[in-house]
Amino acid sequence: MSSSQHSRPSSGPSSNLPPDDATVAAPSAPSRVPLDHRQLWTKAAVGANTYDFASGRVTPTIYERTTAAALRHEALNLGQGFTDHEGPQWMLETAAAAITDPQQGPGNQYPPGPGLPALREAIAADQQRRWGIELDPTSEVLVTTGATEAITASILAFAAPGTQVLTFEPHYDSYGAVTAIAGAELVGVPLRGPDFRPDIDALEAAITERTSLILLNTPHNPTGTVFSTEELRRIVELARRHDVKIMCDGVYEQLVFDDAAEPHRPILTIPGADEVAVAIGSAGKSFSLTGWKVGWVTGRAELVNQVLGIKQFLSFCSGPAYQWAVATGLADDRGFYAENVAGLQAGRDLLYAGLEAAGLRPNHAEAGYFIVADIRGLTDIGDVEFCRMLVEEVGVAAIPVSSLTVQHRANPQDELQNLVRFAFCKRHETIEAAMDRLAQRLPAALDHRPA
Ligand SMILES: Cc1ncc(COP(=O)(O)O)c(C=O)c1O
Repeated sequence: MSSSQHSRPSSGPSSNLPPDDATVAAPSAPSRVPLDHRQLWTKAAVGANTYDFASGRVTPTIYERTTAAALRHEALNLGQGFTDHEGPQWMLETAAAAITDPQQGPGNQYPPGPGLPALREAIAADQQRRWGIELDPTSEVLVTTGATEAITASILAFAAPGTQVLTFEPHYDSYGAVTAIAGAELVGVPLRGPDFRPDIDALEAAITERTSLILLNTPHNPTGTVFSTEELRRIVELARRHDVKIMCDGVYEQLVFDDAAEPHRPILTIPGADEVAVAIGSAGKSFSLTGWKVGWVTGRAELVNQVLGIKQFLSFCSGPAYQWAVATGLADDRGFYAENVAGLQAGRDLLYAGLEAAGLRPNHAEAGYFIVADIRGLTDIGDVEFCRMLVEEVGVAAIPVSSLTVQHRANPQDELQNLVRFAFCKRHETIEAAMDRLAQRLPAALDHRPA
């Protein structure tokens, strides 16, 4: 790829289409190893920014690399999005009892591939109670191994090889990997600060005859934007008009703060959405049980059946005891959601205040686990170098947002190269200690940098 192809405009869509020539250079690392585009593993790695062009090897994901660096440097980890406290004790006990006393629960053998009936019924009942969405648990609900498998199966089901898949960027990393595995091209439409609202006109402008699928994520990781009813209505209208499917990732739907501009609106509540859209949820985020990996896909029977066609040959099924315990949590959360959201919102406020005091420009996250902060008021070293300095010299780990964009948006002036994601789903003491380190050590770390 020529250098001119690397320089993308600072606004407008970018794409992960693999170049035609056999060797390509990553924006930051000159290529030494030929890239074989016929191999699916290289497509997945390039699509998710985990291909090391210098060695020709796959690196762990940005989340795992950040956690490893945090451990190496004894840094406080505000990088990876997992909580440092457990989910509800009674759900842990329900899962444990289901394992050790198989007579009381679903047992420890293969559950039905589409999910335990008890969980599918609980998901349908929950969606009906909360949002008024009517779902047939036997045909319109599919349990998956985390939202990750739901995303993989949906993209593989709906994105035909050679087509284009649109998403707002920054985006969750698996979207890029799976779109590449599907043989499709991920096209990113930037979300711009300071409030990171989706630009629906830009989305429409990015639609071509080759567009097969739009990947939405609301509430959004990493910006915390909750898409408004009007934004979702326009996107559904676009998708129907252009005969494009929608996958809407709603894993943070139970983590919306009371000062969000609008409450969260699931895609399937938008009139006409059921014709084109599937929705994805995750117990991991809702109940602070990220290691359990229980997710789901909901939507019209025909679309869910198409996703099942892929899903049943990925994992086939996932652990029955976890599914059983999640079913009880969905039936009655015993006040956990409200308590959890209040704790997260207080964590967000602590983090916001600390980042602002340190001279960064944090955004107002309406939901989820993360704040993104613009570093340009402090430095022009870019997000990757800033995060390296932060973990090594300041003792705080965070994620460079450019790693969550389509092929590392290459223009160093671009806003998306100057944003850093900090997680606030951590103990308040951890956030406070991290903000103390920022206050005490960041100015010196920036001063010591060679001009
Ligand atoms: C936007 C988004 N989608 C999906 C996932 C994966 O969810 P799960 O752990 O249920 O596979 C995550 C996890 O961080 C996420 O942030």
